[in-house]
Amino acid sequence: MSLSDADAYDRFMGRYSRPLAVPFADFAGLPLDGRVLDVGCGPGALTAELAGRVGPGRVTAVDPSEEFVAALLGRHPGVDAIRAPAEDLPFEGGYFDATLAQLVVNVMDDPVGGLREMARVTRSGGVVAACVWDFTEGGPLGPFWDAAQALDPEVETGSVLPGSRRGHLADLFHAAGIDDIVDGAVAVDVEHAKFEDWWEPFTLGVAPSGTYVAGLEPDRRTALRELCRERLPEPPFVISAKAWAVRGAA
Ligand SMILES: C[S@@+](CC[C@H](N)C(=O)[O-])C[C@H]1O[C@@H](n2cnc3c(N)ncnc32)[C@H](O)[C@@H]1O
Repeated sequence: MSLSDADAYDRFMGRYSRPLAVPFADFAGLPLDGRVLDVGCGPGALTAELAGRVGPGRVTAVDPSEEFVAALLGRHPGVDAIRAPAEDLPFEGGYFDATLAQLVVNVMDDPVGGLREMARVTRSGGVVAACVWDFTEGGPLGPFWDAAQALDPEVETGSVLPGSRRGHLADLFHAAGIDDIVDGAVAVDVEHAKFEDWWEPFTLGVAPSGTYVAGLEPDRRTALRELCRERLPEPPFVISAKAWAVRGAA
């Protein structure tokens, strides 16, 4: 049986993004009274945390992916979810009290435009917050990309992506005209009982790392898997996943 995109995403990234939603919502200062928007919600890792904190009826979620929006609506009754990109949010100005984006700024077509839109739909003085995996000093995919680069120095890791290196996410907030910026980080430790549990989701074709694995010849895929096994600690092992986090006032 093939997995749906939402289930594959959960296996690959949800294992890190679900726990990350807790410190990220804390960093953003939730719960607040009023309405909250989750931008780039995916299947709903952050949405679930927000619904738990402020009630599902106060949470709206958007994502350009039709399948993710459908999965989210099935999983989180009471949450309003619609298809939309960050750069073009279909809401009137100042409608939300807090607007958050977890692991999304790095994949936006126009990160500054997306953040500017997030601020536009947030009431004056309300919270705009975002986080992006640290691709340089300790994100969850570091062990994978380090091994891939050891075998092929030409491999491009995520460190070139917007917001993924120290200070860059705050620079994007400044460029979007967002005030009172707090530049920080949030982190989670995720335990993996077996090496295979850690590796298997990389074979599901999710995200650039999944595309990379899918494009490797079988012997090179095996070499990458075995180098990862050699470099990671004996199971059970913990992956410490850090994300840069920034909040500001709309
Ligand atoms: C790494 S996932 C994060 C999902 C979820 N926020 C989480 O923490 O698990 C990135 C999400 O951003 C969405 N996305 C891609 N481009 C986007 C854009 N321009 N605006 C908003 N979301 C976008 C993708 O469809 C995907 O669901």
